[in-house]
Amino acid sequence: MKILVTGGAGYIGSFMVKALLDKGDSVVVFDNLKRGDRKAVDSNALFIEGDILNKEDLVALFSNNDFDAVMHFAGLISVEESSKNPQLYFENNVNGSKYLFDAAYSIGKVKNFIFSSTAAVYGNPMQIPIPEDHATNPTSPYGETKLMTEQNLKNMREKDNSVNFSILRYFNACGAALDGSLGENHDPETHIIPLAIKAAGSNSEFKLYGIDYDTSDGTCVRDYIHVIDLVESHVLALNKILSEGGESCYNVGTGEGFTNRQVIEMVKRVSGVDFPVLEVERREGDSTELVADVRKIKNELGFAPKYSELQTIVESAWKWHSK
Ligand SMILES: NC(=O)c1ccc[n+]([C@@H]2O[C@H](COP(=O)([O-])OP(=O)(O)OC[C@H]3O[C@@H](n4cnc5c(N)ncnc54)[C@H](O)[C@@H]3O)[C@@H](O)[C@H]2O)c1
Repeated sequence: MKILVTGGAGYIGSFMVKALLDKGDSVVVFDNLKRGDRKAVDSNALFIEGDILNKEDLVALFSNNDFDAVMHFAGLISVEESSKNPQLYFENNVNGSKYLFDAAYSIGKVKNFIFSSTAAVYGNPMQIPIPEDHATNPTSPYGETKLMTEQNLKNMREKDNSVNFSILRYFNACGAALDGSLGENHDPETHIIPLAIKAAGSNSEFKLYGIDYDTSDGTCVRDYIHVIDLVESHVLALNKILSEGGESCYNVGTGEGFTNRQVIEMVKRVSGVDFPVLEVERREGDSTELVADVRKIKNELGFAPKYSELQTIVESAWKWHSK
């Protein structure tokens, strides 16, 4: 199989590339490197520097390659940044994805798509754990861009029902390769585990955003999924659409929630550093609690996370950051 991985120089994409290569697929990575790292791309993948906003790049990409499927990871990912600069997010994530899908379909004749969506599409959910058919009501422009892109995929299939896709709504992706060779390196970094690890590494202050949420200890609750498990869900989703066709949408998480304070405690325990925690105001766009109802992905895809114990996640991330 020949698979296109957009955003393959990023955190999750680079793990996806490795997983696909390990199972014998041929992989092309397409990334503008604005938020990615060329060194994170496995040398056995073909790397093409390009932008999903650049139509010439897309014409060249799909004229020169025949792909069995597109896995679309490229995007801007910060809730906070999207609240400050929504235009940037709508342009990159919505328009960029639309250009990509249109070029893949019309030039590349690609009919199979896997899309990286997010739990942020649910906004502040009325029900925990959150099932996939829960109402969508994003509280950030980031979440809106993902929801609009989901809709664009649905529109494509409405026009041509031989287009197949699977939307994967990730909860919190985290963790690193168990040997510490690959990990999370966002700039700007907004995710709690790498930020807490950086605080531990330099014994500097960690900012805890919001302690007045309606949760057991006043801090936000999230569902953490190890990146190795996360990319495995893509393999399962791809196998399903390749064998059966159709459209699907799955939450990817563990179904278990941890408060920010619990995560901080775990980072302190794994690192052995009691770094100072500064309690500050809530951050705009953060939902109180996001925990996945994982019955659908478990039942339909047989998804069973192997590395998503919080301790394993933090230990692997600590190893990577220590390196
Ligand atoms: N990290 C998470 O917890 C999380 C949660 C939910 C959803 N997601 C989604 O998963 C995907 C991957 O996330 P990540 O954490 O690996 O992010 P990342 O920033 O590490 O990787 C994204 C990659 O996309 C590339 N990119 C961005 N815009 C591009 C463009 N216009 N053209 C070409 N390349 C472009 C960047 O250079 C980067 O390498 C994103 O779509 C994100 O929204 C991530």
